[in-house]
Amino acid sequence: MTTFDEVLPLVTQVLKEHAAALPTIGPLLFNRDLNSRIRLIVDEAKRSDPVVMAALDSICVQLQQRLGPHAYPAARAVLFESDMAVALDGATAFQLDGFAQVLVVDRLATESDWAHIAPESTGVPRVVFFSIKGGVGRSTALAAAAWSMAQAGQRVLVFDLDLESPGLSSALLPAERRPTYGICDWLVEDLVDNGDAVFADMTASSTLARDGEIWVVPAHGREPGAYVSKLGRAWMPKLQRDGRREAWSQRLGRLIDALEARWQPDVILIDSRAGIDEIASSCVTGLGAQLVLLFALNGDQTWSGYRMLFQHWLNAGVAEAIRERLQVVAAMVPETARVEYVDDLRELSFDLFTDALYDEIPPGEVIGERWNFDLADEGAPHCPWLIHWHRGFAALRSLHGRLETVDAQEVQAVFGQFLDGLNDITGSERMTS
Ligand SMILES: Nc1ncnc2c1ncn2[C@@H]1O[C@H](COP(=O)(O)OP(=O)(O)OP(=O)(O)O)[C@@H](O)[C@H]1O
Ligand SMILES: [Mg+2]
Repeated sequence: MTTFDEVLPLVTQVLKEHAAALPTIGPLLFNRDLNSRIRLIVDEAKRSDPVVMAALDSICVQLQQRLGPHAYPAARAVLFESDMAVALDGATAFQLDGFAQVLVVDRLATESDWAHIAPESTGVPRVVFFSIKGGVGRSTALAAAAWSMAQAGQRVLVFDLDLESPGLSSALLPAERRPTYGICDWLVEDLVDNGDAVFADMTASSTLARDGEIWVVPAHGREPGAYVSKLGRAWMPKLQRDGRREAWSQRLGRLIDALEARWQPDVILIDSRAGIDEIASSCVTGLGAQLVLLFALNGDQTWSGYRMLFQHWLNAGVAEAIRERLQVVAAMVPETARVEYVDDLRELSFDLFTDALYDEIPPGEVIGERWNFDLADEGAPHCPWLIHWHRGFAALRSLHGRLETVDAQEVQAVFGQFLDGLNDITGSERMTS
């Protein structure tokens, strides 16, 4: 019996067998519905062409035979559409490999699909902290980065977008300084055009900033209220007055733009949720980040997770739009056998980038002409920025308390290499440009 991953190779085969008829059919959409069943969408004008109809009939019979439960019955497998653009509206679509006229329209049950890569924001640098696995020290590293940037006089705007498991805000704000509202409140109020009621009171400045500023936008306010009920609505798309549908991640983008305009920071740090998750996809691909940090422990779960993600970008034809923004971070590097650990991690990371994202170099061609890096290239995205495991940051009851008394030397010892990398990208000379 045919299963999901066999469907597109089989469609490709059937189309190859009908290659001679394809030019007469014209643009062809393969609609893979929410239940992953395939149907064809064809230009209405072709309905009166017997040659096209015979070809479509033959294709549909073959699809039914080979795709089994993933096909519609041949008699109901073609939809005619007078305006093909309507069938594509808002859906994820990618070209079927080898067929310029054929698009696969992939309907997903989730809003986000990781394949819509928003262009880089034109404002200040946005840095997203992401990892496949949770509990790898993302929020701690973000708090340390905010602390360090503020020490250097920068103004940092921080978003806790780990809405389902928020924690960053408490690392940067003591309970009494929390604002009344948070991101989740705004997302819910915005649905009824009431975002302004919470906008002015959803940001608080951290006492940890010395010369600069750390503004924190938490997931929820001082009193979370009916957080679970609010969270259950936060992902709602919104129908605008002009009838336009705005996905929740676009609403979130609108909020971030508005808070950027309000606070005029030098840099924005975003704590994402972990895993191949809907909110994480919005953080990584939807908010126009210039830099996406991929936190990694050296384990199979990490690499197979990143591999699935990279493969998805590749299949969807968007790898080039995102790859230059990525940077691997070696999280919590163990104290013992450090060199071997990092060497091994770098190699596995290199294999992953080489297989999925780096350009192949044809024999005789110069490396510089393609997007490709050597294993040892320290400026390469696969080459990890290091954060050391340190008992002084392990299992803290209050990271805020820890950061209140920490000194620059301690932060440097644990996060130094990571912070240097970050500074090279978000450093002041770039930010003032
Ligand atoms: N550099 C470090 N050295 C030792 N322990 C650390 C370090 N960084 C973080 N930790 C500890 O690891 C645990 C997880 O850290 P943190 O909450 O920052 O991770 P996270 O990736 O944000 O997790 P989550 O996925 O739950 O949001 C915490 O107990 C923290 O104190
Ligand atoms: Mg966290």
